[in-house]
Amino acid sequence: MKICFVGIGYVGLTGAVVLASLGNQVWTIDIDQKKINQISKGQAPFYEPGLDALIKKTVASKKLIPTSTWQEPIAQSQIIFITVGTPTGNNGRADLRQIKAVAKKIADNLNRRYKVIVNKSTVPVGTAQLVKTIIQNKNSQANFDVVSCPEFLREGSAVADTKHPERIVIGTDSDKAFKLLSQLFTPLKAPIVKTSIASAEIIKYAANSYLALRIGFIDQVASLCEEVGADIKEVIKGISLDSRIGGHYWYPGVGYGGYCFPKDVAAFAATFKEAGLKDNLFSLLDQANQNRPKIYAQKIADKLSKPKTVAVLGLTAKPGTDDIRGSQAILFIKSLVNRGMRVKVYDPKGMMEAEKILQGVIFCQNQDEAITEADSLAILCEWPEFKKLDWNKIKKMMKGRLVFDAKRMFDKKKLTTLGFDYFGVGV
Ligand SMILES: NC(=O)c1ccc[n+]([C@@H]2O[C@H](COP(=O)([O-])OP(=O)(O)OC[C@H]3O[C@@H](n4cnc5c(N)ncnc54)[C@H](O)[C@@H]3O)[C@@H](O)[C@H]2O)c1
Repeated sequence: MKICFVGIGYVGLTGAVVLASLGNQVWTIDIDQKKINQISKGQAPFYEPGLDALIKKTVASKKLIPTSTWQEPIAQSQIIFITVGTPTGNNGRADLRQIKAVAKKIADNLNRRYKVIVNKSTVPVGTAQLVKTIIQNKNSQANFDVVSCPEFLREGSAVADTKHPERIVIGTDSDKAFKLLSQLFTPLKAPIVKTSIASAEIIKYAANSYLALRIGFIDQVASLCEEVGADIKEVIKGISLDSRIGGHYWYPGVGYGGYCFPKDVAAFAATFKEAGLKDNLFSLLDQANQNRPKIYAQKIADKLSKPKTVAVLGLTAKPGTDDIRGSQAILFIKSLVNRGMRVKVYDPKGMMEAEKILQGVIFCQNQDEAITEADSLAILCEWPEFKKLDWNKIKKMMKGRLVFDAKRMFDKKKLTTLGFDYFGVGV
């Protein structure tokens, strides 16, 4: 098929290269010329395992055509995916300015041939109708359907998730649009869930908010454990054997982070409020999560009793990505800086992005540089290299002994025996 992606970030670029590698003719449009140039040279503009190789292959075979011009891709494509950003706007709402701008550009370039326009960005219920209205108002000749087809990939495994999705949700009231999209997705061999447009728009927010809620729930229990001398790891073991609860997806820490969870929970809460459901669970969840990094920064400040040097390892919300958008580690570091701490930071992949948004910290070349002379060491992300930290060496390098284990990667007993003053989330 001939298709086009507008917005070539994590979602758009990954979707485009995977569908191009299956033999489709794929155009990718973006306003960021630097990204287009990089992709045209066969390079990924961000780190994502396996993406570079797929870009090289599909650009070389001309199945993937990166461009900043709209006319040909929109005129030629049977299916147009909108994959631009939907960051947090006012009062937690999703900021739809990129979506609206794209809808107008698509309208300007549509001919009379039938097209399926797909909202793949995460957008609040009612956005497909908004896109439809914008296009109809600008181009009364346009012949199209707007479909909601939310994306569920995870950064760090974006390529694998796109190649082997657990489900594909297609929200549409048009049989023609459903048929075309089902045909495009058939090679992915995933179950297709056909829904109304409104249901599809809610599914993405409901899925992310539920996952965030699991993290928010276990975070709360972890805080209680800290107060009463219990251990969240033991609690998780005990509750997990209940088959209704299960042992998967328990991640106590300094709160859920990443590009999607914080903004999606905030936007979901805003949707509840707009629907008249003011006292909703998601507003509380969002608030509790925003407070969490501050709580732990304060604990470190209290334990150190006066401003000292803290080394922070791990800036991204999870390993395998260089994306630091929405990372709780960044909020934690800012809280430390606000409390007068001297903060040295290191991350295996996220340094370049962190340098763009973090001020008043010392960026280190490697973990040893960060740890040297630190009074306290905080490990915020479970990068594999951090799991192998040599604690005997660290003891000699650090000035102080305070270790904060946000992800419970280390053995409290072992570190205490070595002479560290260990404290971890939920213990
Ligand atoms: N990143 C994820 O893990 C993930 C997962 C599922 C869903 N989503 C959702 O998918 C959407 C995109 O997320 P992302 O992480 O890929 O975003 P991103 O910020 O990485 O990419 C968005 C791209 O859109 C481009 N853009 C912005 N305005 C444009 C315009 N007017 N015309 C053309 N291009 C424009 C930007 O230059 C950028 O390259 C968001 O709604 C997000 O919530 C993201």
